[in-house]
Amino acid sequence: MSRIPKETVDQIIAQADIVEVVGDFVSLKKKGQNMWAPCPFHHEKSPSFSVSPGKGIYKCFGCGKAGNSVQFIMDVEGIGYVEALKYLARKFSIEIQEEETPELNQAQSDRESQYILSNFAKEYFQDVLLNHEQGKSIGMPYLQERGLSVATIKKFELGYSLEAWDGLTSKALAQGYQKQYLESTGLTIFKEDKQYDRFRARVMFPIHNVSGRVLGFGGRTLKSNDKTPKYVNSPESDIYHKSDVLYGLYQAKQAIRSQDLCYMVEGYLDVISLSQGGVENVVASSGTSLTEGQIKLIGRYTKNITVLYDGDAAGIKASLRGIDLILEGGLNVNVVLFPDKEDPDSYIRRVGDTAFKNYINANAKDFISFKTELLSQEAQHNPVKKAEAIRDILESIAKVPDSIKRAVFFQQCATIFGIEEQVLITEYNKLIKQERQKPVVPAGFIPAEEPVAEVKPAEDVTSDDAILLHHEREVIRLLVNYSASKLPEDTPFLPYFLEQLEDLEFKTPIYSRLYNIFKEAAAYSPFVSPDYFINHPDAEVRQEAISLLTERFDLSPNWETHQIFVPKEVELLQFAADTAVLRLKWRNVQHMIRENMELLKVEKDPGEVTKQLTILKTLQQYEIEIGSQLGIVVSR
Ligand code: UTP
Ligand code: MN
Repeated sequence: MSRIPKETVDQIIAQADIVEVVGDFVSLKKKGQNMWAPCPFHHEKSPSFSVSPGKGIYKCFGCGKAGNSVQFIMDVEGIGYVEALKYLARKFSIEIQEEETPELNQAQSDRESQYILSNFAKEYFQDVLLNHEQGKSIGMPYLQERGLSVATIKKFELGYSLEAWDGLTSKALAQGYQKQYLESTGLTIFKEDKQYDRFRARVMFPIHNVSGRVLGFGGRTLKSNDKTPKYVNSPESDIYHKSDVLYGLYQAKQAIRSQDLCYMVEGYLDVISLSQGGVENVVASSGTSLTEGQIKLIGRYTKNITVLYDGDAAGIKASLRGIDLILEGGLNVNVVLFPDKEDPDSYIRRVGDTAFKNYINANAKDFISFKTELLSQEAQHNPVKKAEAIRDILESIAKVPDSIKRAVFFQQCATIFGIEEQVLITEYNKLIKQERQKPVVPAGFIPAEEPVAEVKPAEDVTSDDAILLHHEREVIRLLVNYSASKLPEDTPFLPYFLEQLEDLEFKTPIYSRLYNIFKEAAAYSPFVSPDYFINHPDAEVRQEAISLLTERFDLSPNWETHQIFVPKEVELLQFAADTAVLRLKWRNVQHMIRENMELLKVEKDPGEVTKQLTILKTLQQYEIEIGSQLGIVVSR
């Protein structure tokens, strides 16, 4: 296998200045010794993503992503280690002399050859479109008639394939490209002693990976008879794995990240038309149903997907499953339905860019409501169908990782179907129990924040309290263990941590007590030795402190599994502290929301209801904010 020599790797790492590397993706602002920005890996308003120029690392206090320049490029571009090194080498003009190791890895060079050939084919098809007689008289007029500008055609690198048996094949062979790769990429079909181009007389859409390399093609016929399929596509190959590719992502990724939203359409031309119309954050699943791999891919850029459906209702039901997959991935899904017989491409061209955007904003519905309305209409007068529909929707709701969102969906679903919410919840709990029997999370898939919890009837709040207690304990444990410690830049831990806690109220009496003792102590000194507690006059305090001090503890077990470059202990501590505070606040606000919702259920006075609803809104807003700092998406 060709590999990058160690000295070159060292040179790349030494020269790849973290600020310059990260600066290409987010705008950094200096604060103290570090630079800060909103995290490119999760949605947030106030920046918790920091870059330390001195240490050459980045770290997000919200979602926990951290590492050096190479890791950043791997994460942000979704590419491997070697590819990331090559990216950095290009950026910093470092020449890579690749070594051929004795055990020359055939697979690696085969893939590389297929990339190179695909790129050649792309350039060839472009050349035919722009310069050849057939391209100019047939391909180009077609694309222009479909409203595409030359700039758009170039942006998506569109091309045209000749009406000839072996336009591409003969050219490629003449230039020394090997038969074997023409075959494995599917560009040429070899049959007995004949060979001919797969793509003939078609408009060519190259399909790129996230870093812009061509993996394959879709080719659209210009003929409108049904003898020939409308689209011919490259087959699966060593470089083209359809289930891990989204058409248009390469061109869309910056817009998706900056708008924190990805539109999902069906066709190549939908992507291109929307992009030209200024809706650049758009990708296509290319006619197939969505896969886990594709959702994971989008999840690197945003947690919000809006699916734009063609007007024909038939396809919609078929694709509902694919959308469940998005929910399972912990992403938010909205849905927009277009008028009958329109697809996003035809619609934007008919009504124009502004009206199109307005239509999307006015018609976006969250997926569960959309599905509930769709299925309830069908099942209106048929009890059996109705029961099926309800179960189907509950299955979708079960995939929503966030409990507040689930609660809202229960309410909506109950209203739309005209049944008791409690009946739904009972059904739901049965379903969850069944689900638990099967393994639910596919390997390597984005885990939900925590396992989907059973919905407890309102009276039973023990588990809720247990969760709160757990998080309160965690905060106090950090205080007891680290109140004499320092954070990065010699910041004393104790005052920092207390400030983060913002006079929060502890529900567990002993922790509330300990917390107050810390506050008093901090008034005298920014450092408090654990001895203070070990020798405390109050026996209960003493006992609890000792038990917290002796608990074996691993600062963050996640570092290992994510293979993140492990920073110094003090940084781990800061991360652990920030996360513990956020988690506790998060649980607290959820607790308050639940209390508020209980109150609303029994409150009769309209004035009081309005007041409580305002409070609920504020709480939910707060929940979203904290959630986003934790990298959990609550809702939009
Ligand atoms: P559509 O039939 O909606 O085509 O298929 P389109 O993209 O809107 O194209 P126009 O507007 O009619 O020119 C949606 C997608 O399904 C895949 C293609 O990826 C297409 O973009 N498809 C469709 C195929 O792969 N093969 C086909 O024969 C048809
Ligand atoms: Mn179309």
